[in-house]
Amino acid sequence: MKRVSTIGLDREAYFSEHWHTREQEKVFSNNWSFAGILGDVRNNGDYICTNVGRNPLFVIRDEHGVLRAFHNICRHRGTVMLRGKGNIANGIQCGYHCWRYELNGELRSIPQQTKQFSLVDKSKLSLHPATIEVFRGMIFIHPHPTEAPDFDQWLGQFEEHLGPYDLTELEEVHSIRHPLKANWKLFIENHIESYHLWYAHKNSILGLNHEDQVNYYYNGHWSFFQPTLVPGKMAEFEKYIPSQIIAASEKWYGSGDHLLYPNLGVVSGAKFIAILRAIPLTPTTSEIEIRVFGKPLGIDEADPGVYYEAAGSSEEFSVNMEDIDLCELVQEGMLSEYGGVGALARDYEQSIKHFHEKYLSEMSS
Ligand code: FES
Ligand SMILES: [Fe+2]
Repeated sequence: MKRVSTIGLDREAYFSEHWHTREQEKVFSNNWSFAGILGDVRNNGDYICTNVGRNPLFVIRDEHGVLRAFHNICRHRGTVMLRGKGNIANGIQCGYHCWRYELNGELRSIPQQTKQFSLVDKSKLSLHPATIEVFRGMIFIHPHPTEAPDFDQWLGQFEEHLGPYDLTELEEVHSIRHPLKANWKLFIENHIESYHLWYAHKNSILGLNHEDQVNYYYNGHWSFFQPTLVPGKMAEFEKYIPSQIIAASEKWYGSGDHLLYPNLGVVSGAKFIAILRAIPLTPTTSEIEIRVFGKPLGIDEADPGVYYEAAGSSEEFSVNMEDIDLCELVQEGMLSEYGGVGALARDYEQSIKHFHEKYLSEMSS
């Protein structure tokens, strides 16, 4: 078999079942994962499902308004019970044999218990809990009930780099889920490298000064800022930029991009914040969830502003579609025995090296 010399991750990391299975366990099951926003579970009984690694989980607001996270697995024979999102104020019922659970996870009833399960102690078969934390309206969960890493330490400097955005004060102005015929890591690598901004988005991302970018690396996460270029735009931006950001650094007016390792991209613009989640499905397919929130800090109209301006069209999200197309082309190339990474830009692709280092350290643990 012909082999060419490459750098970066082994090509198989992008298509083999073995790597996919291992990263589900080593990467996703050991990190905090974004599950949704507080607005998804506003009322008692509201729930939202998500998968973290191989763990189906759900977040629910119980009858006392307490937010809880559980493994979405019936304690009878292990059936997944809930799908998507919705409201189940009357309790959680498994669709297989109708075991019912309280919203706090306790097993409430077993059909035919007296005859068929006379020795079963219901108090021992509550749903398995997961760990939950909320940050600025974003819900994060960890599959382990007691040994999740400290959330604040995991988050690191994200709070200071994010600026003052709080999703509880914003409105969701757009959301989309898009299939990606590529491994999730290719979407993340695209999100965190700025080398392509000059070329792939030359007609779609305008008015930002890519050369004056700043990058921060912490805990496997990444934050990046680029200031605006367009003369005359500054005054318009200032009108919308939360004063805290200007006070923090005058360079930070343009656009912020972030990665919360492993798979949550965040984009923070002057008038919006967007969440881009790369959800792995199979070794070569993923789903991209994009949610955009606007109306920061006293602005009257919900307006995703510069994001849509930059994207060219609020309907098509052309920037994201450009990236999705490119990721699928890289995926196709990765399958070739002649494919792989030949070189990385010293500055503008350094983030990919950091991402690989963190990823490999977890994969080999
Ligand atoms: S598997 Fe859920 S009730 Fe039987
Ligand atoms: Fe891009």
